[in-house]
Amino acid sequence: MAEIIPSDQQGINRASTIIKQGGLIAMPTETVYGLAGNAYNDDAIRLIYQTKNRPANNPLIVHIAKPDDAYQLADIKTGSIAEQLIQNYWHHDNPDNNGALTLVLNAKPNSRLSKSLITYQNSIAIRCPHHPIAKQLIAASNVPLAAPSANISGALSPTRAVHVLQNFLGKKQPELILDDASPCRFGLESTIIDARYQHLTILRHGSLHVPETNMKAEMEQETENIIAPGMLSAHYQPKSRLRLNATMSETDELMLGFGAYDGDLNLSETGDLTEAAYHFYDYLHQLDSMSVHEKIAVAPIPHQDIGIALNDRLQRASYTEQ
Ligand code: TXA
Ligand code: MG
Repeated sequence: MAEIIPSDQQGINRASTIIKQGGLIAMPTETVYGLAGNAYNDDAIRLIYQTKNRPANNPLIVHIAKPDDAYQLADIKTGSIAEQLIQNYWHHDNPDNNGALTLVLNAKPNSRLSKSLITYQNSIAIRCPHHPIAKQLIAASNVPLAAPSANISGALSPTRAVHVLQNFLGKKQPELILDDASPCRFGLESTIIDARYQHLTILRHGSLHVPETNMKAEMEQETENIIAPGMLSAHYQPKSRLRLNATMSETDELMLGFGAYDGDLNLSETGDLTEAAYHFYDYLHQLDSMSVHEKIAVAPIPHQDIGIALNDRLQRASYTEQ
């Protein structure tokens, strides 16, 4: 079974040794835990797909230790909008604006990146986490890390080390799980923006609100050539069936509350969307394990700011084939 260890210097050293040997570890970031491996190593990337049971057509995000490292991996033109976003968000000192932005960029020819990280459109997704443990680990590994969320494909994302452990119980596992003392600060995945053209497109709403974008997600695509497969209808799913926009629970349901619509757990009694995002996956994990009838009613979430990303996750979490 994967060992959960503290993210002190010794833990980071152990994790980076595993990465250098081509193995996988789970690392905390400010959004969710990632299942990380050496982005230069084809075998490590293959192992990520096997461990997550992830469809081969769903590409991975590459994590770098500092913004300048992106220039080794992607073609970023001087004065381009991609460069502006890197300056505004990856370099930004405001801790609320840092670390939760993934950019889709044109891959640089002949970089050392595993070819399987580069899409058929020659794009790659890059994230520069601000989280100190993630940053230290990437720096100690001395390579960029490919890391999807540390869950089995389609299941709820992990915001605590124990969620990672539960996710892979009885299955192929990461070699170790670096435990952050506290749960992931934002609690929802990064915002993904396609920054290859002067017109920006949001591919996935997430933990960072970026006013520069047109705030309109691409139309959902369920074709072979999916633009961002996180946009597949069924995703982020608990075992229980979710009923959305519920103002009260039925007798056979547990309830995930928000604001005045209280429940067995309340995402934010004061109706604060940032607090709701922070609790979102954790409370779904908890209700899912408590639920006898496997039914959870979910209070309405206002469709604004990070509420847009929350409603996006809820839509996919509640999706059932017609
Ligand atoms: O917060 C996060 O982004 C977390 C942490 C661990 O970094 N990672 C994460 O990875 O959510 P994952 O694999 O669960 O979701 C990544 C999403 C997928 O929907 C994938 O399709 C999309 O990013 N993606 C990756 N590379 C892409 C590319 N080149 N073009 C478009 N979408 C891409
Ligand atoms: Mg994921």
